[in-house]
Amino acid sequence: MTDVLSAVPRQSSSENPWAVETHELTKRFGGRIAVDGVDLLVPRGCAFGYLGPNGAGKTTLIRVLLGLTHADAGTMKLLGHEVPKHRDVALARVGAIVDEPRFHQHLTGRQNLQILAAAREPAAKGRIEAALDRVGILHRANEKVSKYSMGMRQRLGVAACLLGDPQLLILDEPMNGLDPAGMVDMREMITSLVAEGRTVVLSSHLLDEIERTCDAVAIVDQGRIIRQGPITELLAGATLEVEIDCNSPDTARSLLEGNSFDAQVTVADDEIHVSLPAGTARDVIAEINRLLVTGGVSVYRLQENHASLEKWFLEVTSRLGEEQ
Ligand SMILES: Nc1ncnc2c1ncn2[C@@H]1O[C@H](COP(=O)(O)OP(=O)(O)O)[C@@H](O)[C@H]1O
Ligand SMILES: [Mg+2]
Repeated sequence: MTDVLSAVPRQSSSENPWAVETHELTKRFGGRIAVDGVDLLVPRGCAFGYLGPNGAGKTTLIRVLLGLTHADAGTMKLLGHEVPKHRDVALARVGAIVDEPRFHQHLTGRQNLQILAAAREPAAKGRIEAALDRVGILHRANEKVSKYSMGMRQRLGVAACLLGDPQLLILDEPMNGLDPAGMVDMREMITSLVAEGRTVVLSSHLLDEIERTCDAVAIVDQGRIIRQGPITELLAGATLEVEIDCNSPDTARSLLEGNSFDAQVTVADDEIHVSLPAGTARDVIAEINRLLVTGGVSVYRLQENHASLEKWFLEVTSRLGEEQ
């Protein structure tokens, strides 16, 4: 790998800290509101997930950010530049894949990049080989794109983004159509792009992928952001789950229900499941163990389970549904 692609300009401390900043961004299609007053803040230098079910307005938001369609209301900045006012300056350092990347099928991967580089700044041509190498398809660069797998096309899409030496990459559902190995590769590629100091925003309906790949997330439903922030902070708002395997589930249950932890206890297949409210201290788990043992219960296994983002996501989206 050459240094050409890792030469992301250093951020000065006075620089705007957000890679993407939107305020009250709104986009309607007729009577339907696809992006609804979105205040999005994407910190620089992280992998950021825009997570929501199909139809939540992810692609529309990305299209608005890139100026592919206009906003009906609100303001936005990319890399500190107001868009659409300073769109050209902003987009010069933004690489994006919206929907499936499209290439000339009868041309090779390298030829496709040559065409794309010709349309960019002169330096782009000099980045082609490094970009092919960077995404791991240098050895297949002379094959026609029609021979490429979906995963290789996605890689070529990322290589095309890298021609502009982007500070910000925006990838719309980059895991779509990839097999499990392709997903692992894409995840590693995103992580390494972030390690180089770039910001990667990816949209996905795959909660698990966002949890594995991203540092921070915005959860979107029906065009609105429900929550956003570092994943670890959001998970602090999730319930704490404890599974217990013991000799006497019924005794254990009555011991647990007669306490002050505000625990919800269910017994299934002789295993006890305890759900504790968000913000419960971990000490409570040790306290539960003590309570059972002193109450004469033999504990074979006691396991803390952090609710996954997926479970939490379903909780918050369904709660939102109930409020409406
Ligand atoms: N060009 C369009 N014309 C009319 N409605 C659209 C258009 N694009 C998207 N929509 C609608 O906007 C909503 C959000 O769509 P989209 O941004 O594609 O969601 P996502 O990418 O999260 O699946 C959906 O209800 C969709 O039907
Ligand atoms: Mg979409």
